[in-house]
Amino acid sequence: MEKREELYRGKAKSVFATSDEDRLILYFRNDTSMKDGEKIEQLERKGEINNRFNAFIMQKLEEAGIPTQFDTLLSTNESVVKKLKMIPLECVIRNYAAGGLVRRLEAKEGTKLTPPVFELFLKNDKLHDPVINESIAVAFGWATQDQLNRMRELTFHVNDILTKLFDKAGLLLVDFKLEFGLYHGEIVLGDEFSPDGSRLWDKETRKKLDKDRFRQGLGGVVEGYIEVAQRLGVPL
Ligand code: ATP
Ligand code: TYD
Repeated sequence: MEKREELYRGKAKSVFATSDEDRLILYFRNDTSMKDGEKIEQLERKGEINNRFNAFIMQKLEEAGIPTQFDTLLSTNESVVKKLKMIPLECVIRNYAAGGLVRRLEAKEGTKLTPPVFELFLKNDKLHDPVINESIAVAFGWATQDQLNRMRELTFHVNDILTKLFDKAGLLLVDFKLEFGLYHGEIVLGDEFSPDGSRLWDKETRKKLDKDRFRQGLGGVVEGYIEVAQRLGVPL
């Protein structure tokens, strides 16, 4: 399989075509953005850590029965994945209140949410990824009700698997975002799972070890990602 032209350059990853029409290469860059791309910084080693982190998590999920895009870890910053027709929605699960939920509802950060909250966002930087709901998504044709049911079911299943995995590593899975796409008609988990799109806190001290270190200017961003990876046993 040969690497071909760059198809898309996102805020954190570049997507390359390959000689196999069913496969893409995701290149994880060091770019780290916030506020829908308003602020971008280079964080040394971030791309490599996220590539390895994502490969580790996707393989764990696949073993647990989640259909994922993951094919192979190709190099330090690249992975081969199934080429999906992406659905332009972001599925978020929140186990504890943080981020947008705290801002919107004046909730206290860290409040346990029982049962976990499921939210849908539209992937649209210009509109700042607005919160939507299933009936809006169906009415605008972004996904069918059957596809949304499957995406919600898979997102809750991923939450069960990863909550346990992170708990064993002394970490709280506070919230996370997933993106799905279609592969020969089947809903498959795409994009990435990394500390860029999740919130991970130390279970005892509640120290933040995810992208909030960047958003809040706390420093030690990549160090946080490395700590999480090491605790999980991700080979770096
Ligand atoms: P965001 O940061 O909000 O996810 P982005 O487009 O800037 O948006 P990147 O991660 O930089 O995000 O870019 C990766 C792009 O590749 C995204 O548009 C994502 O939807 C797409 N993508 C991820 N996995 C796949 C896949 N398996 N097949 C096709 N496209 C994919
Ligand atoms: P949220 O608290 O809604 O947004 P913000 O990051 O602006 O505070 O996000 C919930 C979780 O989902 C958080 O771990 C970040 C992740 N997420 C993304 O990575 N990208 C997105 O576009 C959205 C909406 C969420």
